[in-house]
Amino acid sequence: MKIIAGNWKMNGTRADLDTMIGAISKVKTENRVILCVPFTLLRAGVENVAIGAQDISAHAKGAYTGEVSGAMLREAGAKYVIVGHSERRMYHDETNDIVRQKVQMALESGLTPIVCVGETMEEKRAGKTFDVIESMVRESLPTDVHDDIIIAYEPRWAIGAGITPTTQEIADAHKVIADTLSYMGLDGTPILYGASVNPLNVGDIVAIRNVGGVLVGGASLKPQEFVTIIESAK
Ligand code: PGA
Repeated sequence: MKIIAGNWKMNGTRADLDTMIGAISKVKTENRVILCVPFTLLRAGVENVAIGAQDISAHAKGAYTGEVSGAMLREAGAKYVIVGHSERRMYHDETNDIVRQKVQMALESGLTPIVCVGETMEEKRAGKTFDVIESMVRESLPTDVHDDIIIAYEPRWAIGAGITPTTQEIADAHKVIADTLSYMGLDGTPILYGASVNPLNVGDIVAIRNVGGVLVGGASLKPQEFVTIIESAK
């Protein structure tokens, strides 16, 4: 069983979601399929696909104009929430500290957080990839986690770029994350790979040791491609 999560980012209409859910409902798969959609598309009662959000407030309630709480996400039908995506870290200055508070909130609200970590090209060139992802994992998670969480390794330089790290690079990064999680008492936490996953490369990627599935951006918007990804991940 692999986890196949789509990240729609700021894309999609209700009609698009209907079409995608219809396409996925025809697929026979053992894989767990998750679609993380904009807040306005969250809905409950969908079969075959778990619906997730893409962000969560670090606060439970109150005077935080524009924010959406974990309880609200749950009520709207979300089961999962992406936390600390690189676009949130980049454009909204989310630090590991903020990400950790959001992960805590997600867990308290009964949501499974999909926590994103990954190095920039600059950090990669400086040979800092392993240090960066290790500290991101350690600092982005609360110390006392007992519930389900999912980690997504998303090298920032490969997101939306049409290029992926080599098999060895993915294997090495996932090993560092798996070891860090193990040290934190979180053995068995699924680790997804994300960034430029497509129907052609998904089979090779999910065959890599410690890769528990994929987080898919662009290709998750196209029903044919996303369905092929779900079917090809074994
Ligand atoms: P991509 O995005 O698949 O379009 O590279 C992945 C992501 O940002 O989650």
